[in-house]
Amino acid sequence: MKISFLNRVRFSPWFTQLVILRRCNLSCGYCNEFDNTSAPIPLETLKARLKKIKDLGAFSINLTGGEPTMHPDLPELVRYCRQELQFLRTSMISNGFYMKPELIQALNEAGLQDIQISIDGVKPNRTTVKVLDSLRERLTDLKNHAKFKVVVSGVVGSCPPAESFEVIRFAKDLGFKPRVLLIHDHDGQIQLNEEQLKAFQTIKEQIPKSFPEFTDYRDQMIREGTAPFKCRAGSRYLYIDEFGKVSWCSQTRQVFSKDLMEYDYSDLRREFYSYKSCQDRCTLGCVRASSSVDGWRRQEQPVAH
Ligand SMILES: C[S@@+](CC[C@H](N)C(=O)[O-])C[C@H]1O[C@@H](n2cnc3c(N)ncnc32)[C@H](O)[C@@H]1O
Repeated sequence: MKISFLNRVRFSPWFTQLVILRRCNLSCGYCNEFDNTSAPIPLETLKARLKKIKDLGAFSINLTGGEPTMHPDLPELVRYCRQELQFLRTSMISNGFYMKPELIQALNEAGLQDIQISIDGVKPNRTTVKVLDSLRERLTDLKNHAKFKVVVSGVVGSCPPAESFEVIRFAKDLGFKPRVLLIHDHDGQIQLNEEQLKAFQTIKEQIPKSFPEFTDYRDQMIREGTAPFKCRAGSRYLYIDEFGKVSWCSQTRQVFSKDLMEYDYSDLRREFYSYKSCQDRCTLGCVRASSSVDGWRRQEQPVAH
């Protein structure tokens, strides 16, 4: 079915996250998005999924996991997204542990445009080792070799606030783009105390404002427990798991799921309008960024899914 440009802009995915393997080298205590054993999804299966995502009118692609750098075909996947499918933006999320010069060089050549690394604190603790003390060498390698943009996020709620400040300072000193994220509970919902919320506000004041922070609905969520927009997951934002199922996001895999290969324009359109009861207290940054764009205009009335 041919989609008009206007409808493509409205309903097609602006941001799609594709899980290329569920396996991760880490076991962060707050995370429910990994296992320690599963095999990488075969290259040809992933290429077929990427082609289908492009056919749905998607503008950009983000490769995720698990830990995407554990996939042996990561550079070829990036090359396929950039050079053959020509997504406007090809990015990935990584914990950074395997970002050594050889892999960075391969990703440069493949045409990766940006990488997001979130860093939970400074010192390893019982919950996480994804911290500055484990990653300084890898981040320096990225500074010295990466031709792609590096976004480093501090995470409020995963360590004492002083450590989040230190992460942001380190990221700025290396010339990376700093961001701040909020830890969520196992339903993707905000779960922070007063001290952590104060730390969040302080960090936000320290980082240059840019999209999506300009339209940051987190302020309203923190203040009133509501969101000034309707969640567009399943449409403007897509999450596709290792089985090739589309879900609203990583935290709603049990709530909504449909095979990507059967997903079509009517699904995009329906999910654009469908009401998600989790939206008000959701902290998932990628979903928020894709949904908050039309927070300025009158929202349709909730329609139960
Ligand atoms: C599931 S990981 C996949 C990519 C990669 N393994 C990594 O660590 O970045 C994607 C992102 O989700 C974040 N994440 C997982 N569980 C979270 C939670 N409960 N609250 C906030 N962020 C979380 C991770 O820290 C990471 O930045």
